[in-house]
Amino acid sequence: MSEKTEIEKKGLSRREFLKDAGLVVGGATVGSMAFLNSCKATTTETTTITSPPITTTATVSTYIDPIDGTTYSSMAALKAHFNAVHPHGDATLVAFTVNGKGYAFQVKPYTSLGSVLREGLGLFGLKLACGMGECGACTVIVDGLAVHSCAILAVEMEGRVVQTIEGLSNNGVLNPVQQKYYDNEGWACGFCTPGFVMAAQALINVNPHPTLSQVQLALSGHQCMCGNNHRAINAIVGGI
Ligand code: FES
Repeated sequence: MSEKTEIEKKGLSRREFLKDAGLVVGGATVGSMAFLNSCKATTTETTTITSPPITTTATVSTYIDPIDGTTYSSMAALKAHFNAVHPHGDATLVAFTVNGKGYAFQVKPYTSLGSVLREGLGLFGLKLACGMGECGACTVIVDGLAVHSCAILAVEMEGRVVQTIEGLSNNGVLNPVQQKYYDNEGWACGFCTPGFVMAAQALINVNPHPTLSQVQLALSGHQCMCGNNHRAINAIVGGI
């Protein structure tokens, strides 16, 4: 993997950054554009990012009932088991792939993908914060694209390939995006980190060599409530 990055920073302190962004520390919600404009002022666009894309399709050999843990060799067999053993009344049976394994879920028409992933599979890396598609903390990758899992319904997931932050690492080894985010200390409290990382990974899936402005655009739907959007962006740009 090639690594080549050069970012010129003007050495602004966090206080200066916030001041330049027109913010009042401790104030209300801050718009993404203020962060982006401020970030633009502190960096030079000379970025090369190289990272292997994650797969957007899945070869699945295990289909799991998340209720009783039984496994099946096909999605059809898993669905048949669900219909026989777990009557689902007015709920809809929906089956899709999560981090390389097939699952079936009984979902209400109003249940979000994020709720199913957290409550059905215990994947608590994604955070349900604003719950209305504004902050990006719940971002997962669906069929290769970053989506806000709070704002997409689980019933829409039939047959889709979903990846969460838990699916990026391999036997405890961080993937390149995670590793560089870690190395470059892109987080503050860390609450928003999975969303930023998943959005960056989705970008790199389709554009392995994004420019700084492309990274800024890809991450513009994300809010770091600690005020560290610029650190998150620079961590991603800073040498994957
Ligand atoms: Fe989904 Fe904020 S929790 S965008």
